[in-house]
Amino acid sequence: MKRIGFAYNQKPAPDAPGGPSTGDEPPLDPAEEPPSIASRNATPSRDAAAVLTAAPDADDQFAEWDSPETIDAVDRALSRLGTVIRLEATRDFPEQLRAARPDIVFNMAEGLAGVNREAHVPAICEFFGIPYSGSDPFTLTLCLNKARAKQVLAYYGVPTAPFAVVERPGATDALDALRYPLFVKPLHEGSSKGITERNLCRTPGDLDEQVRFLLDRYAEPVLVEEFLSGDEFTCAVLGNDDAQVLPLVAMNFGALPPGALPIYGFEAKWLWDRPDHPLPIFDCPARIDDELRAQIERVTLAAYRALGCRDWSRVDVRLDAAGVPNVVEVNPLPGILPDPADNSCFPKAARAAGLSYDELIQTCLILAAERHGIDL
Ligand SMILES: Nc1ncnc2c1ncn2[C@@H]1O[C@H](COP(=O)(O)OP(=O)(O)OP(=O)(O)O)[C@@H](O)[C@H]1O
Ligand SMILES: [Mg+2]
Repeated sequence: MKRIGFAYNQKPAPDAPGGPSTGDEPPLDPAEEPPSIASRNATPSRDAAAVLTAAPDADDQFAEWDSPETIDAVDRALSRLGTVIRLEATRDFPEQLRAARPDIVFNMAEGLAGVNREAHVPAICEFFGIPYSGSDPFTLTLCLNKARAKQVLAYYGVPTAPFAVVERPGATDALDALRYPLFVKPLHEGSSKGITERNLCRTPGDLDEQVRFLLDRYAEPVLVEEFLSGDEFTCAVLGNDDAQVLPLVAMNFGALPPGALPIYGFEAKWLWDRPDHPLPIFDCPARIDDELRAQIERVTLAAYRALGCRDWSRVDVRLDAAGVPNVVEVNPLPGILPDPADNSCFPKAARAAGLSYDELIQTCLILAAERHGIDL
């Protein structure tokens, strides 16, 4: 039996007085719940205006980290391939890893903090010469910086919306070349942290206000992009040299509450879509013609290769006003919630391809093992 290290970051429990487990930090305020937990305890709101007001104040600090249910499900899937050694990616991760010396690590750790947070676990694995699944530290950091990733995509001729980065309030000269409406987001976040309907800016006044809000709240630069007004898809990719795009997931914005904007952001992900009220927001396989599907798959694989992704990633794609597929962002650590009611895109696409949740997780590890010549 091979020994499989399993690296993850677990969300703090809703009632945990100690807050998230980082290893040695002071306790956090227990009121600071991740939105997934907060929203499950709240009355669902179908009122876009109410959510608009509430969302910017909702706490999304741990939105990227995984729940105990997801961690248990991944552990179960991995345990069919070997002996699983849990390695929570807290500050003592290097010591844990060094002591455990697994044959390979399955990595889904989002990291504790900083712009290189997703790179920390794979970099530590490399330091100790231990193989791991998924993309390398460089690709993880590159994709987490959405502007840097877009520069690389543009270099390779992969369509992506025109953009600029704002570092300070009022420093908006670079924005003159962009055409409204514009869409703004924090430069290196995921799981829709900082992305609400307010981020769609139709005027310079809207833009100035929302850029200031995001700069202040997230203390990081703000990416300003032209708004892609067409249909949206998210595309799960599995593999390396022969990487395949799984059945496409289309966003069905018609399922959002009346008056909601066509954005798959914080409100849609964490407030309106709940396990007890799943939002029929995804169509998988997407009902589109073969030509458009082929175009989207081409752009998806081009982005996967340009950014150096390995084993798996999820590529978000949106059509521009002319119907051309543009890459919005690439997620080399895709969300993998196990319960179908949780509406998690990658497991959904896998199911449509005939892969169970366990098979999806196992395939990712097997792909990594193959790269390293490890027989699982
Ligand atoms: N330039 C754009 N034009 C139109 N819509 C956009 C644009 N950028 C982002 N969006 C909308 O906002 C959503 C969230 O943006 P993005 O995927 O960059 O955020 P994220 O938080 O990294 O997402 P994830 O949950 O996939 O990690 C997109 O799915 C899309 O609906
Ligand atoms: Mg996204």
